Amino acid sequence: MGSVGAKEIPQLITPDGRRIDGRLPDELRQLRIVAGPLHRADGSAYVEWGLNKVMAAVYGPREVHPRHLQQNNKAIVQCKYNMAAFSVDERKRPGLDRRSQEISKVIAEAFESVIFVEEFPRTSIDVYIEVLQANAGTRCAGVVAASVALADAGIPMVDLLPSVAVGKVGGKICLDLKKEEDNFGEADLPMALVPQSGRLVLLQMEGHMTRDELSQSLDLGVKGCRSIYEVMRAALREKYSVEPSAATPAAAGVGQ
Ligand code: CDP
Repeated sequence: MGSVGAKEIPQLITPDGRRIDGRLPDELRQLRIVAGPLHRADGSAYVEWGLNKVMAAVYGPREVHPRHLQQNNKAIVQCKYNMAAFSVDERKRPGLDRRSQEISKVIAEAFESVIFVEEFPRTSIDVYIEVLQANAGTRCAGVVAASVALADAGIPMVDLLPSVAVGKVGGKICLDLKKEEDNFGEADLPMALVPQSGRLVLLQMEGHMTRDELSQSLDLGVKGCRSIYEVMRAALREKYSVEPSAATPAAAGVGQ
């Protein structure tokens, strides 16, 4: 344990190169996705990713509310990311805060760039993301859940959008940070990838990295996204294939 002021900092990387939960730097947390658990929504998905639990519901294309946001040449994508008051250690004040507004905005923009919005003028595609339990990477879990929910709703898209955060932890570039790594690590870099083209449609960064570390992080994140993509596809196959397929893969380590 090290300490800064009154804060105790856990040892984030052990001498044998493992992380606090025993993972190697390029390993993802356990990921499980269920497509279509909500019957009242047009599309839905539930994601358990490490200790994160996230539900997404999609409605639309439907009438635009508020009306003045309507666009004559395309659908608009509206996203509401919300963290439940009971989702974090210290009760979060319910309702919209700046963080939720920022996350909702970047997620809506990411989806607007992959949905064929021109096909649905004067409509809205509404994405709701509810974080029931949080342990870092919730915006990425939200993108993954929303993406499967959009596919479940039959909304035409270029591709599914796998998403993951990479970061710098104890000097090492690590995939899929958990809460202690996010809180005490040096940098956090959430991203979302269009797998077919390799285009990143969400990229944020908190903290500091060198140019080389950034490039290493992007490579690791892209590999992580490709593994997550397979779990997303398997969840949709599980719901839509006529023959019930084998159980959805639960783990998706890049190195595996
Ligand atoms: O969740 P994500 O990593 O996308 O966003 P963040 O703002 O980097 O938050 C990291 C983590 O801090 C969250 O996943 C929660 O576990 C935690 N957090 C919290 O405990 N209370 C808040 N009001 C916000 C975040």
